[in-house]
Amino acid sequence: SKGGYEHFMLKEIHEQPRGIKETLTKRLDENGRIKLDDIHLTKEDIENISKVYIIACGTAYHAGLVGRYAIEKLVKIPVEVDIASEFRYRDPFVDENTLVIIVSQSGETLDTLAALREAKKKGARILSITNVLGSSIARESDDVFYTWAGPEIAVASTKAYTTQLVSFYMIALDMALKTGRIDDAEYKRMIEEIKLTSGKIQHIIDQDSKIVEIAEEIKEKHNGFFIGRGLDYNTAMEGSLKMKEVSYMHTEAFAAGELKHGTIALIEDGTPVIGIASQEKLFEKSVSNMKEVKARGAFVIAIAQEGNTEVEKVADRVFYIPKVDDILASILTVIPLQLMAYHVSVMRGCDVDKPKNLAKSVTVE
Ligand code: F6R
Repeated sequence: SKGGYEHFMLKEIHEQPRGIKETLTKRLDENGRIKLDDIHLTKEDIENISKVYIIACGTAYHAGLVGRYAIEKLVKIPVEVDIASEFRYRDPFVDENTLVIIVSQSGETLDTLAALREAKKKGARILSITNVLGSSIARESDDVFYTWAGPEIAVASTKAYTTQLVSFYMIALDMALKTGRIDDAEYKRMIEEIKLTSGKIQHIIDQDSKIVEIAEEIKEKHNGFFIGRGLDYNTAMEGSLKMKEVSYMHTEAFAAGELKHGTIALIEDGTPVIGIASQEKLFEKSVSNMKEVKARGAFVIAIAQEGNTEVEKVADRVFYIPKVDDILASILTVIPLQLMAYHVSVMRGCDVDKPKNLAKSVTVE
């Protein structure tokens, strides 16, 4: 049941604070350390990993891009991320020293399952992040991390995505602690910071009326862009997918610094550009990319951390997320974009929960 919500997508967006809490706090032991019962990677196993390969489709792939950032930064192992349907056909360099992380909400996506089998054949160890207990992907993996998001009914993935992000941070923190690549104080501090994201998401959801106003202003547009740098580029990709998927507005995501290599030619008077600028260390650069599109007539909607009011000089509209560590910002920045896609979809009269031509679980190649 929709529990009083008009659509499953909205209900599931609202379930994210709880989903994150479940995924995280139920895996903390009495000392506040991460305890992963279904993952059996020892210190020695981790030290023998020469490369991590993350494989997934769609939104789960976008979670994988954030996962790459977390693992490279915290565990200091090189990571590649690939779309499952591409991975299989390019003779990927995978061997017994490769850890393959498979991400799939349903655990049944055929391309992802086929990639898992291919990697297994090459001798890789398989760790999967999935939301469905006993799914095909869970059954065929060596180690499993279940996202405790609860059943996801809407075709567009929301709560599965944010719990996948939290899963990646937990896996990365655990690997980093086991191998001494993070000190105890920083490890504990980050766990506390992740815990706090649950309340911060709620704070964003409580400001939904601001997103409704923004949606009103872009609902009739035929196309738009999502731009960002670093982790914000990954969020741009997810925001763009969500918008296309449920509202059928044609949007594209671009690395903000790449715009001037071609794409900026498409900016016209009134073209909506959603600029994500959550990364403190990239803030100035992101603002200057917004200036570039603004100068060509774009209607700029910025997402920034509270306190960075300088962005108001450039953007037509600003949505502030609560202060957060750069590395964890992706858990928050996606929330206003999910809500924006949802509202634009409803305003356009689309079937939010069941977008045309799509299925929840893709079991064809
Ligand atoms: C987008 C969406 C899809 C899925 C993709 C993978 O909102 O839902 O892009 O993320 O089909 O599905 P799973 O995670 O079940 O493998």
